[in-house]
Amino acid sequence: MRILGFETSCDETGIAVYDDEQGLLGHQLYSQVKLHADYGGVVPELASRDHVRKIIPLIKATLAEAQTSAADLDAIAYTRGPGLIGALLVGSSVARSLAFAWDKPIVGVHHMEGHLLAPMLEKDNNPDYPFIALLVSGGHSMIVDVKGIGEYTVLGESVDDAAGEAFDKTAKLMGLDYPGGPLLAKLAEQGSAGHYQFPRPMTNKPGLNMSFSGLKTFAANTIRAADDSPETRANIAFAFQEAVVDTLLIKCKRALQQTGYQRVVIAGGVSANRFLREKFETHIGASGEHVFYPSLAFCTDNGAMIAYAGMQRLKAGQFDSLDTKVQPRWPLDTLPALK
Ligand code: KG4
Ligand code: ZN
Repeated sequence: MRILGFETSCDETGIAVYDDEQGLLGHQLYSQVKLHADYGGVVPELASRDHVRKIIPLIKATLAEAQTSAADLDAIAYTRGPGLIGALLVGSSVARSLAFAWDKPIVGVHHMEGHLLAPMLEKDNNPDYPFIALLVSGGHSMIVDVKGIGEYTVLGESVDDAAGEAFDKTAKLMGLDYPGGPLLAKLAEQGSAGHYQFPRPMTNKPGLNMSFSGLKTFAANTIRAADDSPETRANIAFAFQEAVVDTLLIKCKRALQQTGYQRVVIAGGVSANRFLREKFETHIGASGEHVFYPSLAFCTDNGAMIAYAGMQRLKAGQFDSLDTKVQPRWPLDTLPALK
């Protein structure tokens, strides 16, 4: 079976063709980063308009890359939520129109389920169930008990900013461009440990909830009190990144202990962070547990993860009617199990 998938929940238009026997046959991504950079963040109306401009040419290019025509497709998957309503509506309208014209079923995919299953796109070394998923993106930070597809219990989540959001806001305080997460990570590579000590929020409280907005405030105060030399800036970036990663690590270890699981999947934009990968590899890998990530291209938003998740739902006979609505807010643990 073969599926065409669309991701349009935020500022990336991602299209992919996934075949359940041959794997990923084609994927294309258009990032709107430059469009929003002048505003220091995503402008929802501009995002919607840009998805409208880019989605059809990108679908054509992806089908050509995958050497796939409409007749070869079994279904169309699209991101139904959570995300920006206008951006979601573009993907959903195009998916429903094509589904009507081509007489195919449509599958509305939960964006975070897409992230969570992204490591399954790898040819080998896929995690078995159950596992702990640490989902860290620009909009969400959560720790999920995953017993199977659709069998999700959210064990903890950020009570304020998402981890990616904290990276972006701190980067902005340091004068870095939007989205600052990757740029802050790059700056941190020039820094070293031991110069600044940031807190590890909520780690001395029981439970798996997290909080990242205080780190941004701590960063603001630290920046104000420090000099503006390149070394100092790099050391502040290092200390901030170390605090976020340490906090995530402490919470993940706690989740492993609580569930008795042996596997952790880390997905979402922040899972591209090299320091985070090294730390988790060292601290979790060393104690005999296993850490899984998507490949770097599929950590941040993309169409491949939506096509993959859509395929799993399609195979279970779970698809939508054409009058389905987008869900800008959509709790992950309300999804049906894949039975
Ligand atoms: O998953 P994603 O592409 O979009 C959402 O669903 O939100 O995640 C984007 C987030 C942004 O906040 C971005 O700054 C962050 O992921 N990010 C990173 C890195 N790469 C992307 N944060 C830290 N280090 C990175 N290398
Ligand atoms: Zn995302």
